[in-house]
Amino acid sequence: MVAVHIINGPNLNLLGVREPQTYGSLTLAAIEQRLVELGARLDAEVTCRQSNVEGELVGFIHEAGLAGAGIILNAAAYTHTSIALRDAIKAVDAVAIEVHLSNVHAREAFRHHSTIAPVCAGVICGFGPVSYELALDAIVRILRQRHGADGN
Ligand code: DQA
Repeated sequence: MVAVHIINGPNLNLLGVREPQTYGSLTLAAIEQRLVELGARLDAEVTCRQSNVEGELVGFIHEAGLAGAGIILNAAAYTHTSIALRDAIKAVDAVAIEVHLSNVHAREAFRHHSTIAPVCAGVICGFGPVSYELALDAIVRILRQRHGADGN
């Protein structure tokens, strides 16, 4: 069975109350519950983590990568600044997908740049909570292909 860690960064613990016009009304717990259910349908083991602390996120990435799990990462504001998170993905040679709830390219210029995207298999943004679901579907296919099983 493939394993996927869904890692959320700063302020995403406040989903549901934080700027609902931008990030929607679902809580992080509700989004995670949906992802665990989708994981079960895809025969993937889903683990969900969140932290507001950059160093803790580095640790979560190490843990996932060293265990051979894929990573779906919404690094939130650290997406735009963090060399440490980029280096962490590289350090453990993790398969990672960057996700965002909002379409960062339709927002302020400082959100258009990602330090993390170049070390990710791909980026999915703008679909609200569905961004995570699309990423889960994609990463399961990538992991299965890597493990030599049918990835379709
Ligand atoms: C976000 C977009 C980031 O620019 C922002 O800092 C966030 C959330 C998103 O999911 O749309 O905190 O990652």
